[in-house]
Amino acid sequence: MKFVYSNFLRCTIFLYCFCDVQSTNKLKSLNYDQFSDSDVFLNSFQLITKYGYMSKKYSVVTEDGYSVKLFRIPSSGPPVLLVHGIGDSSDSWLVLGPSDSIAYLLSNLKYDVWLYNARGNKYSKGHKRNLSQKQYWNFSYEEMGSQDLPTVVDFILAETFYSKLTYIGFSQGTTIFFVMCSLKPDYNAKIHNAFLLAPIATINNIKHPFIDLFTKNINAISKFLDDIGIYDIFSDNQLINLYHAHVCRDKASKKILCEIENLINFGLKNISNLNTNKLSAITSHIPAGVSTKTFIHYFQSYTTGQFARFDYGSERNQLVYASIEPPKFDLSLVSAPVSLFVSGADSFSTVHNVDRIVRALPNVVKYVVLNESLDFTHLEFVYGARVRTLINYPIINDLSSS
Ligand SMILES: *[C@@H]1O[C@H](CO)[C@@H](O)[C@H](O)[C@H]1NC(C)=O
Ligand SMILES: *[C@@H]1O[C@H](CO)[C@@H](O)[C@H](O)[C@H]1NC(C)=O
Ligand SMILES: *[C@@H]1O[C@H](CO)[C@@H](O)[C@H](O)[C@H]1NC(C)=O
Ligand SMILES: *[C@@H]1O[C@H](CO)[C@@H](O)[C@H](O)[C@H]1NC(C)=O
Repeated sequence: MKFVYSNFLRCTIFLYCFCDVQSTNKLKSLNYDQFSDSDVFLNSFQLITKYGYMSKKYSVVTEDGYSVKLFRIPSSGPPVLLVHGIGDSSDSWLVLGPSDSIAYLLSNLKYDVWLYNARGNKYSKGHKRNLSQKQYWNFSYEEMGSQDLPTVVDFILAETFYSKLTYIGFSQGTTIFFVMCSLKPDYNAKIHNAFLLAPIATINNIKHPFIDLFTKNINAISKFLDDIGIYDIFSDNQLINLYHAHVCRDKASKKILCEIENLINFGLKNISNLNTNKLSAITSHIPAGVSTKTFIHYFQSYTTGQFARFDYGSERNQLVYASIEPPKFDLSLVSAPVSLFVSGADSFSTVHNVDRIVRALPNVVKYVVLNESLDFTHLEFVYGARVRTLINYPIINDLSSS
């Protein structure tokens, strides 16, 4: 039953894919072997070692008991931490391979590359106590920022004997940076510099075909999900990965399915803007899982236009925060030096919203706005065919001159 519902949600709420219950059987008959020599089913560790790089993995346990997985491409230089977007994983910094993905490019230059995985994604499951599902998934991007990141930053600095690290985050990876640096301002001093790609604090100006429908009904949706016991969405699923690899592979006859899904979910009008010969590898690695509470928290910010802690309703807010309204995250406390990259064609991290963030931040080193005419959409900051020239090389240049 849960499977039916979660697929129903995938299909209706985000049209995540057309792989509803009927197509599941058909998918099972697809041939896994056609992808046997590709990167489609490799995890982060394997993606690193396949290309001749050394890889290490670590599990760190946060103050609130969550186990978080890090991958590392060790090197003698200064540490760089890469932080993925919502429902994604460390794979996102690797799937384009050594010629384009920034993890390898940084490693080539002897940076010590660390890849984070948010609590609840396919790599970062587990808790030191035996929690129920309902208790385990009771987190949003707030806890990723206030619990995971500080633990991870301290761990990396202790392992590498550096006093600061470079932070590179995409989308949710920027939200949780703002959360950490505003709730725990001591951590600003541990950031050498931060590159924030497609930054998101609130999503109140985003353009998504169904956003109004969700947000108007957010309380009903969240109660419904809770009642039927769905606490996580977009979890890693072999069949969906295979489906993605199948419809998104080069020359696929059903590529229209791949195109529609990416248009609806990510506002990607031209699938060729993604690195096309890596499309199967890209899409088969997303999604990697996230709590429903994370989405609900973002939807709250759409309604209120505020970058604030989770809203439990006035009664419970009194208990949790001792105030009726959830406290706001104070961006003026984010004093670490930051460079922000936004694109006029991105419908999730909009120039309008990022302008507001930039005005609130006290230490903006650089603000890059990619012209809308480039048609550079949200996913392209990590997966784009032009990511090397528009994003990765500029970051690397700034890093080497800083
Ligand atoms: C964890 O708790 C569940 C019930 O909540 C129980 O069925 C299970 O045996 C427990 N597992 C361990 C390892 O204690
Ligand atoms: C979830 O966390 C909130 C805030 O810490 C707490 O008030 C609530 O009781 C928790 N719910 C569950 C099911 O653990
Ligand atoms: C899509 O992008 C590719 C490569 O960037 C380009 O050659 C093609 O003309 C674009 N198609 C449309 C319909 O814009
Ligand atoms: C963006 O590109 C368009 C079309 O190429 C051009 O007319 C416009 O001046 C550009 N805007 C900026 C701010 O560079």
